[in-house]
Amino acid sequence: MNDKLHTSERTREFNFTQEHFAKLSALSYDHTGIVVQNNKYEMFYSRLAKRVRALKLSNFDQYVAYLERHKDEEFTHFINALTTNLTSFFRENHHFVFLRDKVVPEYASAGVKEFRVWSAGCSTGEETYSIAMTLAEATEGSKMSWRITASDIDTEVLGKAQRGVYPLERVESIPTPVKKRWLLRGKGTNAGMARVSSELQKNIEFIQVNLIKPFSFQHKFHVIFCRNVVIYFDRETKQKLIARYADSLVDTGYLIMGHSESLHGVSSEFVSLGQTIYQKVT
Ligand SMILES: C[S@@+](CC[C@H](N)C(=O)[O-])C[C@H]1O[C@@H](n2cnc3c(N)ncnc32)[C@H](O)[C@@H]1O
Repeated sequence: MNDKLHTSERTREFNFTQEHFAKLSALSYDHTGIVVQNNKYEMFYSRLAKRVRALKLSNFDQYVAYLERHKDEEFTHFINALTTNLTSFFRENHHFVFLRDKVVPEYASAGVKEFRVWSAGCSTGEETYSIAMTLAEATEGSKMSWRITASDIDTEVLGKAQRGVYPLERVESIPTPVKKRWLLRGKGTNAGMARVSSELQKNIEFIQVNLIKPFSFQHKFHVIFCRNVVIYFDRETKQKLIARYADSLVDTGYLIMGHSESLHGVSSEFVSLGQTIYQKVT
């Protein structure tokens, strides 16, 4: 273990101390609510060393000073370098089955005209388009239209989400009939890529939202997907966010979390329906 540590220290291009790590972790926490564990030391170094290089700085002292002086410009890069954006189409498929079989019929029969979903922490958009494909098919033949708000703090992934273009291997997890209907296969220079249909995109708005800052929307949502995002937040940050989610949902609206995220001991405004699906209680 020590050998490993010494080797990586010897081969590092820039000196990176515990003080640098502590300072940058604190900035990450204050700005994004993301708690950086000590075992992320190497990841932190390698991702931020790219920023030191890109800015043509000589060391991490200069980077910390630069970040503090140029918060507006550099914070976006800093956060983009640190966030974990892992996602896939129809990840945790039972959530989309629940949306299709339970939630959409419930609101359609209640006479809701516009069904609204927020995909919070949408990363590169796979979750958002999985929701969109589900809603487009589940609302067919009903009088209910649908809209999705998709948000992330990381502007790079948000740009990819908005473009909706994916390598073919990424769309493999989409069931074939769904894929055939909603994706266009690229030709010529776009071979090997698939593009999401504009029929879906026209119902989606992509916006940057930092979930640890107060937010407000014109309309309340019927469902909020916030999966694999709060896993990096401490309890206090999580509690504040969940209270804001409760305010942003209609009465009896649904909050869907990731498989390892729980509201147990975090909020009494929701009841668990199992499989990390929660319903607001009034
Ligand atoms: C692991 S991805 C989850 C993507 C998708 N929800 C899923 O489950 O497949 C986590 C996303 O949360 C975003 N995120 C982290 N902290 C955030 C914050 N404070 N505000 C908004 N988004 C945040 C990251 O940028 C990242 O794209």
